[in-house]
Amino acid sequence: MNAALQAIPQIDSPQDSRALRTALGQFATGITVVTTRAADGAFVGLTVNSFSALSLEPALTLWSLRCSSPSLPVFEKAERFVVNVLAEAQVEVSRRFALPLADKFDGVAHAENAWGLPLIHGAAAWFECRTVSRQFAGDHCLFIAEVERFTLSEAAPLLFHAGGYFALGSRL
Ligand SMILES: Cc1cc2nc3c(=O)[nH]c(=O)nc-3n(C[C@H](O)[C@H](O)[C@H](O)COP(=O)(O)O)c2cc1C
Repeated sequence: MNAALQAIPQIDSPQDSRALRTALGQFATGITVVTTRAADGAFVGLTVNSFSALSLEPALTLWSLRCSSPSLPVFEKAERFVVNVLAEAQVEVSRRFALPLADKFDGVAHAENAWGLPLIHGAAAWFECRTVSRQFAGDHCLFIAEVERFTLSEAAPLLFHAGGYFALGSRL
């Protein structure tokens, strides 16, 4: 193996865990804010980059939520949620929804969809989803959801790689 490559057969020390995070950071993703509404009517949302397309027919998507998140009980009860795919101008929205704030929506322009769930203004795309399956896996809960409605804008997407935010580069 090339000396520059690092093989880590087992992950059992904090250093290994850091190395795993670094390696996972090599997988560049988009950024979303997943939003829903609690039983008391309060809007809930968090920054998520585990979102992924799963199936086209039927249209299914997936994302995972940390078990220790205070948002978990809300998403477990909610039938529906919205995946707001952030645009490159929305770095501050991503930062805000990754913080444990009492009202993350304060100062963030949004509208409500047909089910009263928040659609964040300025996003690159919106997927309005209905949860079809929840499964605990390790320290996360995996949500699989049917896409009931989707909308896209012309805004360029925000990217995340190696712990930092990026804009799209040149097409190869
Ligand atoms: C770029 C980025 C991606 C993230 N992706 C996820 C994710 O996929 N799942 C998750 O549970 N938390 C993810 N987080 C962390 C949550 O956004 C953060 O823990 C947030 O505070 C959770 O909200 P809560 O405290 O209301 O549960 C991510 C954070 C950042 C900055």
